[in-house]
Amino acid sequence: MKTALLIVFGATGNLMYKKLLPALSNLLAEGHLPSRTQIICVGRRELDTPTYIENAKKETSSHLDWEPLKGKLTYFRMDFETTSDYQRLKEAIADHDHDKETMVYLAVPPRLFPVIAEGLHTVNLLSKGQQETRIVFEKPFGEDLESARQINQALWTYFDESQLYRIDHYLGKDMIQNIMIVRFANQLFESSWHHEAIASITIMAKERESVLNRAGYYDGIGAMKDMLQSHLFQMASLILMEPPQANHADAIRDEKVRVMQRMTLDPASLCVGQYRDYRQAPHVPAQSETETFVYVKGYVDTPRWRNVPIHFVTGKHLDEKRSEIIIDFKTDTKRLFQTDHNKLHIKVAPEEGVSIQFNVKRPGLQETITPAVLDYCHSCQAVGNTPEAYEKLILDLYKRQSGLFARWDEIETAWQLIEPLRQANKPLIFYDTYEELKDIIINHAKERLDDL
Ligand SMILES: NC(=O)c1ccc[n+]([C@@H]2O[C@H](COP(=O)([O-])OP(=O)(O)OC[C@H]3O[C@@H](n4cnc5c(N)ncnc54)[C@H](OP(=O)(O)O)[C@@H]3O)[C@@H](O)[C@H]2O)c1
Repeated sequence: MKTALLIVFGATGNLMYKKLLPALSNLLAEGHLPSRTQIICVGRRELDTPTYIENAKKETSSHLDWEPLKGKLTYFRMDFETTSDYQRLKEAIADHDHDKETMVYLAVPPRLFPVIAEGLHTVNLLSKGQQETRIVFEKPFGEDLESARQINQALWTYFDESQLYRIDHYLGKDMIQNIMIVRFANQLFESSWHHEAIASITIMAKERESVLNRAGYYDGIGAMKDMLQSHLFQMASLILMEPPQANHADAIRDEKVRVMQRMTLDPASLCVGQYRDYRQAPHVPAQSETETFVYVKGYVDTPRWRNVPIHFVTGKHLDEKRSEIIIDFKTDTKRLFQTDHNKLHIKVAPEEGVSIQFNVKRPGLQETITPAVLDYCHSCQAVGNTPEAYEKLILDLYKRQSGLFARWDEIETAWQLIEPLRQANKPLIFYDTYEELKDIIINHAKERLDDL
């Protein structure tokens, strides 16, 4: 097994402490990464390695096992805009083993992506076409369509597309990967996966938490860019795409892009909200217009999805944490019985699983129809721990498997889709509770919506 060198820019941030270090610790503990792995933690703060580790220990969860990381972390201070600092970084890592896979992880705001990429390229720390080196970009990739295009254009001058890994960590979640299996490995579903059988689809990612101490990142980004443009569209594309030609990363991504290019979101249905205490959170401007909630309805202009509304719901400070896809089937068209709709729930978080609602006769002398639910709990079936999304993604990165990373055309299509919404200039609705939003959503949806 080769040596792995991971260089993380933005190593003093929340992502490093809360997600990357725990994922790396687990991967090392289970022997998935070479024992000679080295992790260079790059930041702008004046720290030495022992102080960095001390700080990281305070910031990371108490469950993190530091033993597998022992002797593997080095802190490197630099200015991200100074070329000579990249030269110093190159010299510092030259001390490490040469027979290595080098991965650079940018856990920083997107405006720094081209800056760091240029620095790495200028000193030849990463070279175009050199397959054992690759570079990872956190989401959001850009701040809007224009900036994303500029960033991407810059990256293509420095690196080959095959060296670029754009993260949407939802793709690393087991249940997101399971969507393909549920759809295409079950004739039961695939034969009724169209507008004649399906009344509507709801794709939601609700969070109970407020912005907490992450306003520095969140303000100015908001729910539309943080969640809709990335996670919700990724879920939608897997649910809505036509069957791919092959179970192969590019064939799947081709279909995902194709279907999202046929989607339109209705600006009239758009509803944006901000929870009332948001402007009091640390680092949030008193007049912030950032939305913490978004609802919008879309349609896909293909024969399969004619007139099927797709409802997108996401936000913070809501009634519960729940990421879920709900397929709402049409009722019995022959009207033999008055029944509830059949429903398929694909649960992504916090529970992972699938449930199916169908109709049965209630036991007894009367012919009363009642809904019943078949529930499959995915996490309950796991032997040992289910790997966290970041574990799966870091491992795929190490193995040069790019299927669970977003291709440029997926990202560009997603930015194109939200562009009309950003221009709609809808007034913010201020909310204390999710209950207040429900009627407003139904008014905007102009549809039956009973799974909010
Ligand atoms: N946290 C998550 O769970 C999560 C999930 C999905 C995606 N992401 C994405 O990951 C990226 C990082 O998120 P985060 O939560 O870690 O943000 P964060 O806590 O604000 O940390 C950002 C990091 O970037 C550094 N940084 C910012 N501006 C810099 C500059 N001009 N020069 C040098 N360093 C600079 C910060 O250094 P200082 O510490 O010195 O300020 C810090 O290390 C963001 O793009 C975010 O969208 C995060």
